Amino acid sequence: MTALPSSPQPTGDEGEQARRRAGMPSARFRLDRHLLPSSMRAALEADVRAGLTVSPKTLPPKWFYDARGSELFSRITTLAEYYPTRRERDLLRAHSTQIAELTRADTLIELGSGTSEKTRTLLDALRQADTLERYVPFDVDESVLREAGQAVAAEYPEVGVHAVLGDFEHHLPLLPTGGRRLIAFLGGTIGKLMPAQRAAFLHTLASTMAPGDALLLGTDLVKDPVRLVAAYDDAAGVTAEFNRNVLHVLARELGADLDPEAFAHVALWDPEHEWVEMRLRSRTDQVVQVLDLAVPFAEGEELRTEVSAKFRRSRVANEVEAAGMQLSQWWTDTDGDYALSLSTKGVWFHRALRPAAERADTQLLPG
Ligand code: SAH
Ligand code: AVI
Repeated sequence: MTALPSSPQPTGDEGEQARRRAGMPSARFRLDRHLLPSSMRAALEADVRAGLTVSPKTLPPKWFYDARGSELFSRITTLAEYYPTRRERDLLRAHSTQIAELTRADTLIELGSGTSEKTRTLLDALRQADTLERYVPFDVDESVLREAGQAVAAEYPEVGVHAVLGDFEHHLPLLPTGGRRLIAFLGGTIGKLMPAQRAAFLHTLASTMAPGDALLLGTDLVKDPVRLVAAYDDAAGVTAEFNRNVLHVLARELGADLDPEAFAHVALWDPEHEWVEMRLRSRTDQVVQVLDLAVPFAEGEELRTEVSAKFRRSRVANEVEAAGMQLSQWWTDTDGDYALSLSTKGVWFHRALRPAAERADTQLLPG
């Protein structure tokens, strides 16, 4: 973990404008690294050792996201088959004003923020409500985090951008505290976590939340498996390339001796667990050399690279409640494809989350 300079330094408008003219980052941008290249490499090594020496073989999906992986994911979000991004964007456009009104957040934290593209809608609404002071994008890929954070800092000069490079499975307790925080976890990314990991994640998140904080969660919903599988197996093959990117990462970061093209992309619906699974299927009998391991793959053997859980309202409600939060709002599109939900902690929030007109008596204080 690296301690980088303290809070964003307010500068005069002139200094800020000169910086922007010169193409320099905003003085109100700061990046904290909770992941150093050495610790990322050690984590990747550990995941490779654990995941490629068991049967069936598996790797965690966070390793898709180097600069190329983030770029490929951005392309996925524009594909005709990949509806979640469009659905979520529409829901944010429809409900951000209400979200801003309900939460009156001064800090927007975004987990797995990626390009922060849809986030503008939330930032605009919080700015409109005149509460927004700070945006905290949090991601495991420094390239996308830095670019997105600096772009937001330039577009919203009155907002301090405090980017955090970290892993949301390990570094939630290190998120900036204080103020009224809206924690957004969009894109359906919570679906990457296996049920036990998800429970641990929500529990840790809830334990870091103070009265007045809220969780805005984007979840893809259970639907026709044909549409679900098509969203993860597009005709142009972009998702296939995204899937194989994990092999490019192993080759570059660990010097793995392998040919990504020797693996075929597979996407399937698992009705029992209600998740889409992505796998890489070995096209031949082959041995992959990585670290000090010789990893044999039989022809047709599959490596699981990602699950993408799909939800129902009851599951989201049960899981946030098991973690000590309450589901306060649920918004979905007319086709029921995707949902945004707002959850809070403790009975007190039910008072706080009544629309402002009804709570003229309510001071946003616990008790
Ligand atoms: N929120 C954006 C991006 C979703 S893609 C959207 O809705 O479009 C998932 C993002 O989560 C990527 O930017 C990826 O780098 C990040 N990510 C994946 N695993 C992560 C982890 N364990 N910790 C932090 N970020 C992670
Ligand atoms: C970011 N995440 C929620 C995407 C998803 O839909 O599971 C990642 C993705 N994988 C394949 N396509 C998109």
